[in-house]
Amino acid sequence: VGLQPFNSMAIKARAEHLVRVQSDAQLRQALELAQASGWPVTLLGGGSNVVLAGDVAGLVVVMCSRGRRVLAREPHGVLIEAEAGENWHQLVCWTLDLGLAGLENLSLIPGTAGAAPVQNIGAYGVEVRELFDSLDALDRETGEIRSFSLQECAFAYRDSLFKRAAGRYVILRIRLCLQSRPCLRVDYAPLAAAWQATGLTRADARVVAELVMSIRRSKLPDPALIPNAGSFFKNPLVSARVADELAARFPTMPQFPQEGGEVKLAAGWLIDQAGWKGFRDGPVGVHREQALVLVNPGGGTGAQVLGLAEKIRQDVLQRYGVLLEQEPPVVGG
Ligand code: EPU
Repeated sequence: VGLQPFNSMAIKARAEHLVRVQSDAQLRQALELAQASGWPVTLLGGGSNVVLAGDVAGLVVVMCSRGRRVLAREPHGVLIEAEAGENWHQLVCWTLDLGLAGLENLSLIPGTAGAAPVQNIGAYGVEVRELFDSLDALDRETGEIRSFSLQECAFAYRDSLFKRAAGRYVILRIRLCLQSRPCLRVDYAPLAAAWQATGLTRADARVVAELVMSIRRSKLPDPALIPNAGSFFKNPLVSARVADELAARFPTMPQFPQEGGEVKLAAGWLIDQAGWKGFRDGPVGVHREQALVLVNPGGGTGAQVLGLAEKIRQDVLQRYGVLLEQEPPVVGG
């Protein structure tokens, strides 16, 4: 089965077998079949945060379960639930239509609801963990379905238990606690500027969503037009000492001090300053508007994408002494 339609980098790898599952029961059947046949299992949601290094042996399970609902209206918020296969952005729009706030900064992020907690998606100053209530997942080691609280998910920047224990848990549905009274977050610099420009004083989550969407559209390539997997590297964390040394050498380097004393650097800035923005390497390249995004307009292979990523990593390491960590996991090959 060709995997090109199942990954936003549009890499033309193949899966030995592929099944789309729409319910917990179908998922169990698929996993049992794989076990009985000795096939390794690879899970996919929207395929928007993965690099296919080659063909995928065994069974690819694509989570396609649908359904979303309001579970409870509580004084401190409204609890909603979404099945793993729900499209993330459509979920965000649905909550805004219900008059609920909280997800507006996370508008237009590609992928599914079930994948959102895996890398703790975040944008424009908000991470999904801040709205997170709990999720249900199937533990492939025990065969049990269990619920995970916020603490149990062990969220961190672009990280969670589910990313670290890749393959062990299958997220079935997620629950988020949203606000009936908006508590808007417009502190992220480009968003703050856009918000000010509207001249509005009343809080409106829909306006923030529109602003986020227009900023995203100006910076980030639409995977339907220019295949990509979003940010290809995490923003690196360095110690305050290293950050000070870098600031002395590169006075314009953006730095974001974190609560624990570490400093987050902008990987996009490092790659941009090293001259990679807009660079083309055969079929693959670096996006013209955002150096953190690798693109695959020419239908390149996973190896070509990873080859370019490695050249960038080496160059950034040499220039700044900072090691970039790749964000999307590598599958297949
Ligand atoms: N910058 C450059 N050149 C570039 C890109 C960025 O100089 O080519 C500078 C910017 O000027 C800014 C800083 O780097 O000073 C940060 O850039 P930006 O606000 O565009 O965000 P980012 O840190 O590059 C992160 C997320 C994005 C998310 C944006 C907005 C990560 C790895 N990426 O990018 O997430 O949309 O913030 O909040 O944390 C994704 O994960 O796929 C993704 C797009």
